[in-house]
Amino acid sequence: MEAKERIEWLRKELHRHNHNYYILNNPEISDLEFDKMMRELQDLEQTHPEFYDPNSPTMRVGSDLNKEFNQVAHKYPMLSLANTYSEAEVADFYERVKKGLEGEDFEICCELKYDGTSISLIYEDGRLVQAITRGDGVQGDDVTANVKTIRSIPLQLASGDYPRSFEIRGEILMPWKVFEELNLEREANEEPLFANPRNAASGTLKLQNSKEVARRRLDSYLYYLLGESLPTDGHFENLQKARSWGFKISDGMKKCKTLQEVLDYIDYWDVERKNLPVATDGIVLKVNSLTQQRHLGYTAKSPRWAIAYKFQAERALTKLEKVTYQVGRTGVITPVANLTPVQLAGTIVKRASIHNADVIEGLDLHIGDMVYVEKGGEIIPKITGVESSFRNNLTGEKVRFITVCPECGTPLVRYEGEAAHYCPNDVTCPPQIKGKIEHFISRKAMNIDGLGPETVALFYNAGYFQDVTSIYNIFYRKGEIQTLDEFYDKNPWEFMNIPGFKSKSVIKIMKSVKNSLLVPYPRVLFALGIRFVGETTAKLLAKSFPSIELLASAKFQDLLDVEGVGDVIAESIIRYFADERNIHLISELKANGLQFALSEETLTERTDKLSGKSIVISGVFSKHSRDEYKNMIEIHGGKNIGSISSKTSFILAGENMGPAKLDKAQKLGIPIVNEDDFLSMIE
Ligand code: IVH
Repeated sequence: MEAKERIEWLRKELHRHNHNYYILNNPEISDLEFDKMMRELQDLEQTHPEFYDPNSPTMRVGSDLNKEFNQVAHKYPMLSLANTYSEAEVADFYERVKKGLEGEDFEICCELKYDGTSISLIYEDGRLVQAITRGDGVQGDDVTANVKTIRSIPLQLASGDYPRSFEIRGEILMPWKVFEELNLEREANEEPLFANPRNAASGTLKLQNSKEVARRRLDSYLYYLLGESLPTDGHFENLQKARSWGFKISDGMKKCKTLQEVLDYIDYWDVERKNLPVATDGIVLKVNSLTQQRHLGYTAKSPRWAIAYKFQAERALTKLEKVTYQVGRTGVITPVANLTPVQLAGTIVKRASIHNADVIEGLDLHIGDMVYVEKGGEIIPKITGVESSFRNNLTGEKVRFITVCPECGTPLVRYEGEAAHYCPNDVTCPPQIKGKIEHFISRKAMNIDGLGPETVALFYNAGYFQDVTSIYNIFYRKGEIQTLDEFYDKNPWEFMNIPGFKSKSVIKIMKSVKNSLLVPYPRVLFALGIRFVGETTAKLLAKSFPSIELLASAKFQDLLDVEGVGDVIAESIIRYFADERNIHLISELKANGLQFALSEETLTERTDKLSGKSIVISGVFSKHSRDEYKNMIEIHGGKNIGSISSKTSFILAGENMGPAKLDKAQKLGIPIVNEDDFLSMIE
């Protein structure tokens, strides 16, 4: 057989066996035979790159190449559902639908609400062309390469009557079993654990390395078919079709006519869901007919034709053995309840968070108390109450919040108006120093790749890291270190003694440290970790004080003039710059070349063309991204606001502006400006 034919045959067979295994749970061949065929195909593809196919089954194994995600606009916005928590609210929904449909017969499609991360898959001519995360609902990240590694998602539809072009949405999930194995592995490697399978699934989908994604064995369920030419007018029927094209569709869907049938469905699955291999957190009810769905329409946030019913969180009663305390990056102290192990929603719970001293007081916690623990879809449960009928003279003493830091012994402080206690020693308290460095290098701050929390801990414990300036001293030294040789020359330490730290890691860190010199001033300001100065505040501060010197010399009152800055933030900024050590730290970073002022470019672009204008951005744009438009508004002195009110100056509208927004704008008589007009406005 010719190589081309063999490749085609292998691809077809592997797609088919994949479907048999992952969708039908009915393999025809052994894993060994499957692997053998896969390897043969990999070899053939390597020797015949001319037959490359982006949807080949070999794409399932992923690649080691790092990839930044592109932001893409959703063709139809990804809305969420309104939540209900009681049967009475479900009955209200049923009545609303009945009324909205003016006596017409209708069916409700009942489905499980899968608790993962949502995804939108786009197929053209039967081939998966793009997979986009929900993002902000209007645009999301293009995670196609990662999604291709998920075995239950067909890369190529077998055959059938599917539309030429369609979108299918659903949930990416990490099965409980995989989640537990992953966390065990992470625990062994001293990596932070995932709180629940949902976080694990969304974290995995955002990994830069698709090979690692492939290793994590994600699964999927699809629950929403969209497109111009769908096979039928029934949501349920369309999904049955989608199943026949190769998608994984839940077997648990059911069409109901009466409210009683819907309630019975809910009761059944509230119990039965515990036997499912993946997490669910409720039931979704959808009017089945697409025509009726259109008739009922949407509110600003969610469809009127669907609703979610959330299951009650499970509760367990167990004994509080002791309370321990954790110290975070800003010195915040979090009390943690240590419990007699108890079974709760499929896992054994030993610890629960108690948030702060007020919660301890509010619950009147005593050591030895029998307490209720609840898991709201989280792996870290919380204490929601004390069963006082169990309290007797054997119950231990009242829990008193600690007065000194458990890590460094410094007396704790509690700032006026704040619930948390802090350890004020940000100079030598280990978790604070490590935490500050981790924050500084994080993606939204300086984005220094190759240095994770584990490496930071290794370097800190070995005495190499004192604060964030150590990173530059070791990996850049004001430009003196540019090559691997220079790195080893200028650093007398035995880096090789740090387990797992190899030349490859050094090169990676050196490169990203150097790149961090290009990080713009607002992000550098955020990276400094000034308490209460988050991403948005940092941006606003940089706008009003375009250099660090201007910010450092700002008076309390000047700071209050910045939008979103109140007493607490202003005080924190003043306190930060009053500390000599911070001034020294900044001057060290500056000497290394970090950006401590808005670039010339940004400054000269500034105008006041939009000064005094409050602008709402809505819809999908083709010339610039939403963030770019946000930026432009700010650069030209305008203000970007989230929702329409009578104070809105105009709406910068792209394609598919939400019907509710459009309606509101028209009612209030607010002008709608399109992309081109906006661009000429600021030209
Ligand atoms: S339908 C317009 N069906 O729940 C309706 N959503 O708040 C679109 N979800 O973002 C959603 N299971 O991530 C739908 N069977 C199901 C679902 C489901 C889980 C998630 C989805 C969505 C959120 C709704």
